[in-house]
Formats: sequence, C-alpha cells, structure tokens
Amino acid sequence: MSALMSVPLLDLAAQNQPLRDEIMAAIGRVVDSGRFILGPDVEKLEASLAAVTRTKHAIGVSSGSDALLVALMALGVGPGDSVITTPFSFIATAGAVARLGAKPVFVDIDPATFNLDPAAAAAAVSSTTKAIIPVHLFGRAAPIPETSVPVIEDAAQSIGASMLRGIAGCLSFFPSKNLGAFGDAGAVYTDDNTFAERVKLLRMHGGRPNFNHQAIGGNFRIDALQAAVLSVKLPHLGGWIESRRRNAHRYRAMFAAAKLPAEVILPADAPGHIYNQFSLRVPRRDALREHLAKAKIGTEIYYPVPFHLQPCFQNLGYQRGAFPHSERAADEALALPIYPGLAEQQQQYVVDQVTSFYASAS
Ligand SMILES: Cc1ncc(COP(=O)(O)O)c(C=O)c1O
Repeated sequence: MSALMSVPLLDLAAQNQPLRDEIMAAIGRVVDSGRFILGPDVEKLEASLAAVTRTKHAIGVSSGSDALLVALMALGVGPGDSVITTPFSFIATAGAVARLGAKPVFVDIDPATFNLDPAAAAAAVSSTTKAIIPVHLFGRAAPIPETSVPVIEDAAQSIGASMLRGIAGCLSFFPSKNLGAFGDAGAVYTDDNTFAERVKLLRMHGGRPNFNHQAIGGNFRIDALQAAVLSVKLPHLGGWIESRRRNAHRYRAMFAAAKLPAEVILPADAPGHIYNQFSLRVPRRDALREHLAKAKIGTEIYYPVPFHLQPCFQNLGYQRGAFPHSERAADEALALPIYPGLAEQQQQYVVDQVTSFYASAS
C-alpha cells in the first residue's frame, strides 16, 4: 500500500466542501436578518428535527451537554435524587446529573454492545431514582429498561438510530457527530407537550413573559447561525449515514479476509446503527494505536476512563472492579476512521496496518 497514504479519523473540511456555497449563503442570510437568537432559522431546524426523530417537539439548545442538563431540570431532578446511567460514555452524561446536585448511580454495560445493561438498570431503581439515562453509544440503539421511572435517552451520538421510547431524547451537534454544527449545539426531542413547554421555558432562564421568571433555568438556546448551518446539512444526513454503514460493512468484509487474533472483535451490526464511531475491541490497544499513528492513521479511544474511576467522581465511593465490563471496554476500545468520505483503499490500508501489527507481534 502507498507510503503516501494517510487516513484521518475524520475529515470535516472535505465533507463541508460541496455544501460550502449553500452554507455561506445561509450564514449570510442570518447576518443580514440581524436575528441571531431564536427566530425563523431555529424554528425551521426544530421542525425538521421533529420529523427526523419522529416526535412532536424538538427544541434546539446550546449543546448536547445542555440538552441533558435541561431535560433533567425539566424532570425536576435535584439534591437528594439519584439518576441511573452507564459508567462508559462521554462525561456529559453523568456530569449533567452531578451538576444538579443529584447522585449518579452507575450500572455496568453489556460487553457485546457497550450499552447500559437494561435489566441491571431496572434492578438498580430505588426510592431516590428520578430518572435513567441509557446512552445510544457510538450510534447503536441501546435497549430501554422496563421500569416506570422516566427515561432520558442520551442520543448525542445516535440521531436517527431509533424511535424515542423514553420521555425525551438528547442530541448533540458537536462537529464530529453524524450531523455536526460549526461549533456547539444540541436539541431535546419529546412527544410530551408539557415536557416540551418546560424545556422551552428553562432554556430562556424560566422567563415567561420576558423578565418574569417562573423557574430558575439557564441560557440553553441554540444559535440561529448554528441552526441555519444545520438546516443546510440535515438533508444530507441520510446519505452520510448510508456511507458510514457501507464503510462498516466493508471493514467487516476486509477484516474477515485478514488473519487476526480472535481477541480482535468488530462491532456487530444492529438495526438502525448509524456508526458515529466504529469501535473495535483489541488486545494491546495502546501499542496498536501507536503503530497506526506511525502509519498516519487517526484513531481515538472512546473512552479510556470509566466514570466511576474518574477523579471528579471519587466522592461517589466506587472502587476499581465495580464495573468490570466497563473497565475492560476502557482498556480495549479503539475507534477507527468511519467517516462518509473514506475511500475503499484507505479502509484496506487501515485493515492491512492492523493485520501487520498483529503479524509482527506474534
Ligand atoms: C454520549 C454523549 N453525551 C453527551 C455529549 C455532549 O454533547 P456536547 O459535546 O454537544 O455537549 C456527547 C458529545 O460530545 C456524547 O458523545
């Protein structure tokens, strides 16, 4: 394979290039309108997001982190409450709980999917449990626990992957997501009219009418500029997801033809999977990552430290060994490039480099 080959983890400039004129025109329209907070661009995006998530309401917010925060605020989560979630996710999932003075309670993942074990989550419900947050990690829909406790779905990585089953879902438009903004943005979606109204109230500091505050909220609004950019990109989301699925299938075929240790495990396909990440489990993960970096192949570790072992959560009193599946995932997971514009030769190069690492190590 060519010595000049390089494969970034993600190539946003290439993805945006064909849309550049349209995006610049949309930004120009917002600039000329002078309407930067809420307004028609936000409403247009919200209507499209409600259609994509097949829900009644989508409410644009400032980030995926704030989507989780405001959703929990809308449920009234606060001190004395606990919220059950996974230890294996991006920090925002559990951070939102702790930011409200509530206690995150962790339950281990299903090692086959990296997602929260739904039966264990339902079994962990106690008298203080105010919500459960399953995360549709890497774009694969997580099963929803069977319980009467409200479920907030962390769909930051999984737009379009599954129908909403909880009371609300939270999206992130962080640039690396399948639908990425030009900065930070997010959304909450729900079928519940009262919940939607509450989120809308809270994203504006609880002011209704203006300067009359019904509740303590925050500034959780999405920028009109981000909404305008996202509205240009949204019609392409389906095509990008299809490309990611094609790349995942190609990796599977290529890896199947390669000679690899049995401990190298590819993510299984699943209905609706949108492949925001394609995370393998691998032995000698850090050495492999170094080998790939030398071969100019971008990879990432999502996530190297589970929540219960994070310094910020030491007060929760968990010890190493508490969640063995999450700890093992943190040691073995490695995300390979999967972005829509990835070429077949680049994928073959990635597979060849992974193969040569294990061939020379054995
Ligand atoms: C699972 C998960 N939850 C929450 C977030 C937070 O989203 P944001 O970065 O938009 O605040 C992210 C993304 O970064 C995420 O991957």
